[in-house]
Amino acid sequence: MKLIKYGLTLKRLTKEDIELLRIWRNSESVNRFMEYRKYITPEMQEKWFESINNPNNFYYIIIYNDEKIGLINDKGFDRFGKATSEAGLFIAVDKYKNTFVPVLASLILLEVSFFYLGGKDSYIRILKDNISSIKYNTRLGYELCPNQENVENQLYVLTPERFKEKTAELRKAAIKVGGGDPNIYLIWEKEDYDSGLAQESDKLLEEGEIDVPNKWENGNHIWYLADDPDNPNIQKLDPNKANPYKYYEKNK
Ligand SMILES: CC(C)(COP(=O)(O)OP(=O)(O)OC[C@H]1O[C@@H](n2cnc3c(N)ncnc32)[C@H](O)[C@@H]1OP(=O)(O)O)[C@@H](O)C(=O)NCCC(=O)NCCS
Repeated sequence: MKLIKYGLTLKRLTKEDIELLRIWRNSESVNRFMEYRKYITPEMQEKWFESINNPNNFYYIIIYNDEKIGLINDKGFDRFGKATSEAGLFIAVDKYKNTFVPVLASLILLEVSFFYLGGKDSYIRILKDNISSIKYNTRLGYELCPNQENVENQLYVLTPERFKEKTAELRKAAIKVGGGDPNIYLIWEKEDYDSGLAQESDKLLEEGEIDVPNKWENGNHIWYLADDPDNPNIQKLDPNKANPYKYYEKNK
């Protein structure tokens, strides 16, 4: 599964990328910003992957100019329950730090969560002394939660309304940076149909209120999620019509 927008690709994490991710995550330049800093073995990584490879968790490798450059995630997302989730991000390739690339990745992740998956509060945890990440995330609209002043790994929250308002201009600029195309392309690949992840999500899009154009190409199913940055589509999902979790449980 891939999401493409703003000239950037977010590729759902698959087994083939977990070793690269492990190397990144164990590196000093990444793990010094994380709460968990012990060495991660290949076995630990596999076990972790099995625990997150399901419809509640969206871990994506960020790809820019055909290069894998980092990870962005939205985890613990119960879309038919509270619909809250926790985001995370790191850029592992130095030359893309302090560029517009991480911002584009954050926009895609949050737009999909808030505008297409019915996401409500998005949380993020940031170590108290990680000043650049605090600055980065507050610019997207995240706010420190109550009673976090004395906590080491502080919790921040962002609502869809605040995101929409805070990033209205930024989302327009991002479309220009990405070449002028306002679409998000959602691409389901063969492996997503094999795992069962794609079928019910397809049904949700087919039966949703918004008519989403789509086509099959070389065995991939491409959905064109057209978006107006001033007036984003808000999909209303009905779990009685389709529910990826149920399908996934059944096919596990
Ligand atoms: C957090 C992280 C992804 C942020 O990326 P970054 O490239 O350092 O982010 P920056 O704040 O420098 O932003 C990059 C550029 O986008 C701009 N920008 C960032 N947010 C913006 C916003 N909301 N609106 C407009 N511009 C924005 C910045 O001004 C900067 O451009 P400039 O260099 O011309 O000033 C990166 O520092 C990282 O990987 N850190 C390690 C892991 C980590 O701390 N993760 C967070 C905890 S989960």
